[in-house]
Amino acid sequence: MSDQENKDYTEAELAEMSRDEKMRLGLALDDVELVEYRDNWPVKGTRAERRAERNVAAWFALAGLSALAFIAVFIFWPWGYQPPSDPTAHFIYSLYNPLIGFFLGLSILAVGIGVVQYQKKFIPHEVAVQQRHDGHGSSEVDRQTTAAILADAGERSGIARRKMITRSAGFGLGAFGLGAGVFALGGMVRNPWSEEGQASLLHTGWMPEHPGEKVYLRRDTGNPHDVSLLRPEDIDAGGFETVFPFRESWRHNEEELITSMRKGDAPVMLIRLRPGSKPVKRKGQENFNYGDYYAYSKICTHLGCPTSLFEQQTGRLLCPCHQSQFDVVNTYAKPVFGPATRALPQLPITVDEDGYFVAKGDFIEPVGPAYWERKS
Ligand code: FES
Repeated sequence: MSDQENKDYTEAELAEMSRDEKMRLGLALDDVELVEYRDNWPVKGTRAERRAERNVAAWFALAGLSALAFIAVFIFWPWGYQPPSDPTAHFIYSLYNPLIGFFLGLSILAVGIGVVQYQKKFIPHEVAVQQRHDGHGSSEVDRQTTAAILADAGERSGIARRKMITRSAGFGLGAFGLGAGVFALGGMVRNPWSEEGQASLLHTGWMPEHPGEKVYLRRDTGNPHDVSLLRPEDIDAGGFETVFPFRESWRHNEEELITSMRKGDAPVMLIRLRPGSKPVKRKGQENFNYGDYYAYSKICTHLGCPTSLFEQQTGRLLCPCHQSQFDVVNTYAKPVFGPATRALPQLPITVDEDGYFVAKGDFIEPVGPAYWERKS
């Protein structure tokens, strides 16, 4: 290093130096030698340079348009399930996931290509060699020379005078950021407390809509118009059936007949234990069963898969997703194996005067996986 580079600079001396001088001083202090420097566009404003600018701007514009399309699809596309019996509606519904994936992916890809293209076309090519040496803190000289180097790099890249690229990049990255925000916040927009004045997270289709209303246990025959209600004699000892809620007011309501069996918290496993089983009952739920018949939510308390298997020898319900096992006989459907940590909620049931199973009320605790107010 020369004496000039070694000297201590006062703030007044630094203030008098141009940015170019500070940049050169910074390189010298860091022992950096520029051995090659090539400006991609030594002659400014050529047609080729403008074409390259348009190319980069087009990628950022595409990123912005894709991000806006993603937001529009995410918010407005009809995402609710439509059965194959209505081919047009089913086709439109089935496009929801592919479309949000396509537009989000295209937006990310276009941002990436735009950045790479800009770097390749407009950042000057340079080769620098730096000698290794001990760092010497962050003095005022270091701070100012580093700022000068960064500002110089920004200017040499030409970003300040390439308005088309800065605007398109602002649009593309801004829309992309907006899309990421919508993606994160979208799920919180719906107010679960506003639905018909009731908290939809705290009740299920098993809750009577007015006092005295019967909610029957119905099996799924594959035809939503075929209402098949269950009686005790319909299930053999050691057997089980998946059941859904049904109320008479739905009998001629096509929409309810279909949607009542699609609700995520509706499926229940109605189990008939083998004679002689002596199940341990949960405190406060001693009268939730009807004889040997026990009804438990089918929704696994781990991640919400259907606990579709019942092993009659052991009296365990099995979840096929991650192998959680719930012991119906000895621990009122508490998990005894696997990742689930909470018992399956039990539905209180009885048999009405006509001999059909009915629910005595809704679940007394939330159904499904992790829930922020659940205590058990
Ligand atoms: S969802 Fe049932 S064990 Fe994971």
